[in-house]
Amino acid sequence: MHIDLKQCEHIQKEAALELARIASREALEQLRLKYFGRKEGALTAVLRSLKDLSEEEKKTIGRAAHETKLYLEDALAKKEQALIEAELHDQQRKEKIDVTAPGTRVLEGHLHPLTQLIAKACDIFTAMGFAVVEGPEAETERYNFDALNVPKDHPARDMQDTFWLEAPGMLLRTQTSSVQIRYMETHQPPFRIVAPGRVFRNEATDATHEAQFYQLEGLMVGKDVSLANAKAVLEVFFQRLLANKKIAVRFRPSYFPFTEPSVEVDVTCFKCFGKKCAVCKRTGWLEVAGAGMVHPTVLANVGIDAREWQGFAFGVGLDRIAMVRYGIDDIRLMYGGDMRFLKQF
Ligand code: DAH
Repeated sequence: MHIDLKQCEHIQKEAALELARIASREALEQLRLKYFGRKEGALTAVLRSLKDLSEEEKKTIGRAAHETKLYLEDALAKKEQALIEAELHDQQRKEKIDVTAPGTRVLEGHLHPLTQLIAKACDIFTAMGFAVVEGPEAETERYNFDALNVPKDHPARDMQDTFWLEAPGMLLRTQTSSVQIRYMETHQPPFRIVAPGRVFRNEATDATHEAQFYQLEGLMVGKDVSLANAKAVLEVFFQRLLANKKIAVRFRPSYFPFTEPSVEVDVTCFKCFGKKCAVCKRTGWLEVAGAGMVHPTVLANVGIDAREWQGFAFGVGLDRIAMVRYGIDDIRLMYGGDMRFLKQF
């Protein structure tokens, strides 16, 4: 190959034009290969053929070729630098955070209405010196019935339509009263406890009956704890729970195997506040709990001396309270897991 000055000039001009059009580092690398590639590089070929020139030509053409090389190296380096900076700038622009842009709303969940009610109830009892305790949902016949003085053939066992488990003597607890026994077995009086939890009954379901529901058990034992104390405690509880000081509690005689005497507990209807409505069946009262003085036999069953200690117990049904309070007319909604329902609370 014979070269002349024009060729060097041509390479410079062409390279300058091409460089101006290049927008990526890959393209720049292609261009570098086009001129400096070991095999095919246009400038490489020029530099290689310098050795075939006469001494005279080497001076002029050699210098021109060398200058072209320097020029190209410099132009490529500058272009590369410019491309790197552009890339960086681009990246910064993309990653820029607009602090004034409206945020994406964080989806906020909340507790189930029954869970909210239980938490509130526990707060109120804790403030009155009660400890919150829990017991298992899969329970033994002894804790659920026997130790609570429910005779083997007593209709209460049928009344509460028990779900029996396959393991002998095991059942799904029908009442949280079982927790009373568990607690008294391991603690000495005096004490005050509440035990919220789920209970199960095998009965036909409808708008007011479910196979599962929640109770809150209460137990207070001391030297001279009376039914009057039960009334006061329950009155304070309901007044605070419903945020209404006018709520009253009334006791009606009743029967439970584990209490003597036993009572049904009514509170002022908190739908109509005593004005008499459909919810309270025009009585002005709602039945919300069972209660009584702990039966001496129950105390004896857990090794507590009934001549020295006495106390009251109660069991509040929580679902009904939640339903009246939130205006829910079907208990099955509570356990259906329907978000359209749950989102309202
Ligand atoms: N366990 C009873 C029920 O499920 C409610 C109850 C009544 C609990 C009287 C008590 C009580 O502690 O003293 O129907």
